[in-house]
Amino acid sequence: MIPEMTDAPLLNNASLAILPAGVRVEIPAGTWLLEAVEQAGVQLSFGCLNGACGTCAVEVVQGASGLDSPSDAELATLERRSFPAGRHRLVCCARILYGEVTIRLAPFASPQ
Ligand code: FES
Repeated sequence: MIPEMTDAPLLNNASLAILPAGVRVEIPAGTWLLEAVEQAGVQLSFGCLNGACGTCAVEVVQGASGLDSPSDAELATLERRSFPAGRHRLVCCARILYGEVTIRLAPFASPQ
């Protein structure tokens, strides 16, 4: 279960909730998604770390507007891996800019 989120605006901070692990972490605005996931203590499979392999794709469940815009390379990888446009991001390519973002990892992810 995800801890209850606040309605108060976050100044220079953002939060990331991670499903299905059900954990949330507060992070500075601008943090890479991968760093936030690792900070939360959640395991995630990844490979190239440069947006080429698509191994680190996650579904963005809430707060997608709080992420930076995907690059053409990231979009190409998501399309090549057949992830639906606009619903997925690569955690090695995306930064959290503001607000409360919720992502869903592949079923193999679990708390450490
Ligand atoms: S680790 Fe390869 S795309 Fe993110």
